[in-house]
Amino acid sequence: MAHTKKKIGLIGGGQIGGNLALLAVQKQLGDVVLYDIPVAEGLVKGKALDINQLSAVDGYDCRVTGSTDWKDVAGSDVVIITAGVPRKPGMSREDLLDVNLKIMRDVAANIKQHCPNAFVINVANPLDAMVFALHKIAGLPKNMVVGMAGVLDTSRFKCFIAEALGCSIRDVEALVLGGHGDDMVPLVRHSTVGGVPLTQLIPADKLNAIIERTRKGGAELVNLYKTGSAYFAPASSSIAMAESYLLDRKRVLPAAALLEGQYGMNGYFFGVPTQIGAGGVEKIIEVQLNDAEKAELNKSFESVKKTVGEVKL
Ligand code: LMR
Repeated sequence: MAHTKKKIGLIGGGQIGGNLALLAVQKQLGDVVLYDIPVAEGLVKGKALDINQLSAVDGYDCRVTGSTDWKDVAGSDVVIITAGVPRKPGMSREDLLDVNLKIMRDVAANIKQHCPNAFVINVANPLDAMVFALHKIAGLPKNMVVGMAGVLDTSRFKCFIAEALGCSIRDVEALVLGGHGDDMVPLVRHSTVGGVPLTQLIPADKLNAIIERTRKGGAELVNLYKTGSAYFAPASSSIAMAESYLLDRKRVLPAAALLEGQYGMNGYFFGVPTQIGAGGVEKIIEVQLNDAEKAELNKSFESVKKTVGEVKL
């Protein structure tokens, strides 16, 4: 019988990689290859075995293979990159540029060789600069490569709104635009809870605190964990994007996508609402912004541009 199951390559066997593998299997998205470099062989093989053993309990037919050989990743339909070093308390994501770029060069070259048709989602930081480098090195079509952070940042924003109101997260509609840095742009004016504008529900000072907490959402976790960064929410966010691609859901999800004139920006990956379906990034959606929002977005864009300017390919 022809093998019709999808294949998901997870590059990086750390905390996010392990959670990605578990979620992919639980959602039965396809068979998973959890890849890492040879020094981490025990880690990826162990996580694969552990997850395969739970699949008997839960009745999942997708399998996880732990591997240190790119040949096992070859032909993946989706590749999610979490390889790289997380920041430590006191560091910015930009401080990781040199160390993670070195890793990304190798990962992107292998994707070019082994997975040229995959939909590739980058999670490594500094996110917008890493996805820029990935796209250039791997030579992937622009619709087949994205950065994950918008889903994560938006999810954090929604979580803090629901907490402040004591309401169900299901009724919160909100969006964060821009780069995955401290000047990302949570869009208050466009956010609603059960159809009611957020600005009518939460006083300005509380809203400002929520915006600030969202912007520093990654750092809050880095300070708590001390030796690593967030992993549950980044894994779920990436899987939402992978699922939308694999099942042609056409969900509208914020992603770092290549802009070619949208929002007045050109040639950079930047967090904007996208539609993700079987065609990868099928649409980039432009939100109408007022002057203050445009100014905030430009500030975020300048930060991304500065970091990308330091990328040596
Ligand atoms: C996050 O936002 O959780 C990630 O980008 C990790 C980090 O360093 O903050």
